[in-house]
Formats: sequence, C-alpha cells, structure tokens
Amino acid sequence: MNILLIGSGGREHALAWAISNSALLTRLYAAPGNAGIAAVADLVDLDAADHQAVTAFCKANGIDLVVIGPEAPLVAGLADDLAAAGIKAFGPSQAAAQLEGSKAFTKGVCDAAGIPTAAYARFSNPDDAMTYVREKGAPIVVKADGLAAGKGVVVAETLPQALDAVQNCFDGQFGDAGAEVVIEEFLAGEEASFFVLSDGAHVLPLATAQDHKRAFDGDQGPNTGGMGAYSPAPVMTEERIAETLDRIIKPTIKTMAARGTPFKGVLYAGLMITGDGPKLIEYNTRFGDPECQVLMMRLKDDILTLMLACVDGTLDKVSARWFDEAAVSVVLAAKGYPGSYKKGTEIRGLDAFADDPDIEIFHAGTRLDGDRLLAAGGRVLNVTALGSNVQEARDRAYAAIERIDWPDGFCRSDIAWRAVKSRQD
Ligand code: AMP
Ligand code: GLY
Repeated sequence: MNILLIGSGGREHALAWAISNSALLTRLYAAPGNAGIAAVADLVDLDAADHQAVTAFCKANGIDLVVIGPEAPLVAGLADDLAAAGIKAFGPSQAAAQLEGSKAFTKGVCDAAGIPTAAYARFSNPDDAMTYVREKGAPIVVKADGLAAGKGVVVAETLPQALDAVQNCFDGQFGDAGAEVVIEEFLAGEEASFFVLSDGAHVLPLATAQDHKRAFDGDQGPNTGGMGAYSPAPVMTEERIAETLDRIIKPTIKTMAARGTPFKGVLYAGLMITGDGPKLIEYNTRFGDPECQVLMMRLKDDILTLMLACVDGTLDKVSARWFDEAAVSVVLAAKGYPGSYKKGTEIRGLDAFADDPDIEIFHAGTRLDGDRLLAAGGRVLNVTALGSNVQEARDRAYAAIERIDWPDGFCRSDIAWRAVKSRQD
C-alpha cells in the first residue's frame, strides 16, 4: 500500500516508524515531515490546509490511505474531502472531530449520554460569565471554547485570576477560539489519559500511556504540549479502564453514531480520577504527542492493519497486542520552551543509537542543513526507550540523553516518576 502521512511532530515520526515496519507498506510519503521522518519516508512539500492539493497528490501517486496526525486538519475537514474523492483516511470527519474542536460540543455529548464530567456553563459575553464565576467562587476552571494549542485553559485558584481569565478570553487572547467561554467546576484528583481506536461502532482499547504536561520537574511550571510520556500507566487500573469504557467511551461512540456522525479514528480521553471514579476533562481526536511515541514502541501488531480496520468498520475482527516491556519517552526541548527559544542550533551525536533496538530517537522540530541536524521548534527530540520495567526504560532514556550533544536543549529529569514510585510503594 502507498501511504501519505500528514504532520511533522514526534507523534508523526513514531507513526512513520511504525508504518515503515508494516508488512502492508509499499511506499510512505510524509507532508511536510521532518529530518527524522525523512529517514523512513519521502517528504512532500504539501500544505495540509490545501485539501485540493492533497487530493491531487493522492490521485497522482496512487495513495491507498492518508494518515492524519494532528488535530487541525481533522477539524478543517480533510478526512471528509478525501472521502468525497474516494480516498481512505485514518482520522475522524470534521463533524466527529468537534469532540476536540469544541469543548461546548463535547459537554453537549456528555449531557446527552450521561457521561461523568465537571459541571459547567457556557457564555458568549463577559458580564454573564463573570457573574457566574463570582457566584461559584474559586478554584474554578476557565476555558476558551475552540482550539488554542492547549493554552486556552486557566485553572484559577483565586477569584481575581478567574475574572482575569474571562476578560482575556473575551479580549481576544485566543482569537476566535475564545469567542465563547466554558466555565467548569474544578475537579481534584490524579490526571490520566486513555486511548481507544473506534471504527464508529466498535471500540478497541489501546495500551495505557501517560504524559507530563508541565514544563519542569515535579510537574511544575507552565503547561506544554507534553514533556515526556510512559506506558503502561499504573494509574489506569483494570477497574478504571472498565469504568472509563462503560461510562465514558462507549456512550460517546454510541451518541456520535446515533447523531449520524460516527467517530472513526483515535479517541483520546483526558480524565481526572476523582473520589467518584474517572471523569472526562476533555477529548482529543488524535494520538497524544508524546504518548504515541511510547505506544508505537510497545505495539506488537501491524499499525496499518489497525488503521484500516478503523476505516473499514472491521475493528471487531482485529486485536492490538503489546510487548510486556515498558516504554519511556523524554522530550528534549529548546531552552526557553514553552516561552521564546532559539531556532537553528546544531544537534550532534544521534548516529550512536542507530543499531540499538531499545532506543528510538523520534524527531519533532528538526531540519537538515546539508549534513547538519538543526533544531527547528520548541519540542525537538523524543528520546524513547524500552526496558523490562519502567525504571530500566527510564534509565536507558536518560543514559541516551547524556550522549546527545545539544547544549541548547533541556529536558525534565523526572519523566515517569509516578510509575517508578508506584513500583516502589
Ligand atoms: P484541557 O485542555 O481541557 O485538557 O485542560 C488542560 C489542563 O487543565 C488539564 O490537563 C488539567 O490539568 C486542567 N483542567 C482542565 N479542566 C479541569 C477541571 N475541570 N478541573 C481541574 N483541572 C482541570
Ligand atoms: N500530550 C498531550 C497531547 O497530545 O495533547
């Protein structure tokens, strides 16, 4: 099969790596890709926002499946336009991607299906929103409704912080994404992520994985796209998985199908494990980045078989098996991230890992300048290791980082700390 992969992050490098190991693959293209993806795919200079150009490329190159990595093209309806042209795409339709694209939409689905989530209200003007915030008091959570690259959420510990967040949203801090504001009850507990595949009717749970959203050690500092991940995630016990499937995931899939907008693709639930069990914080309609990196390292089965089953509605006929080893991925980011950072600094020393079966260095923001590998983004490399347990995987990842020569990068030193601690308890 000929595959076109859309995206350029560490998630897409991990997908490209897994796809390149598939027995079903003939040729892999990636648009736009990055320096790491270039080792396993032909990079194509295509703008994913130009659906006509993507469709024309697929027709000209006999593409059998388009794998859409990030959320923006999904929310923009790329999968719909490809389907209309008779081209298969892995990733939900525009209507189903509203589960990520609009927090208010997801709250509506929760209401309709009785899914446990934080109590909430939506507002389209600041005065009503502020009156509500004053009534409820702090702590309280203020969210821009639309896509804001993970930055549209303020967990306000005090009333003035909450009022400021409302004002900033309506002042246009997040552009159109903040034209409507969702205000939520603060949920206390441990956060967890849960990933499933769905073909619109059936659900196939994936292995558990957990990321670290905060920039600094001890889960401190500003939110980022994710500074590291590990799999399996002990927080998702068998019991919590069963409860999440029954009370959150399956009712969502059923509701989306009943509305005539079935969800096909990866559904990623952000959960809070509260005293009353798992509650839904948010949905994403694509793989997590860097959670995808640890999942792909542990996946035994062919990723293309699973993706095709999602598209073809045959997910009940396949299984996903996982290596028993644990995987840990540590993000190397440019110093300054998630604030401002330098681009174009040189990275050396990656060749050392080419033959190590337990280490994969997935690239995020990188580019080649001749033979030189340069940093080209905030999150730059995902140093990912397998080990017989989470401690060993983590030690291997950090030992690998010691050998990478990139003075302009930094990483957290405590990725997977909860999983390591839960082994020791
Ligand atoms: P979201 O983009 O909705 O996942 O929110 C980003 C982060 O804000 C989450 O990962 C949580 O850490 C936090 N958060 C969101 N909603 C709540 C809530 N209702 N209660 C407590 N924390 C929340
Ligand atoms: N790692 C969080 C995300 O992909 O949204």
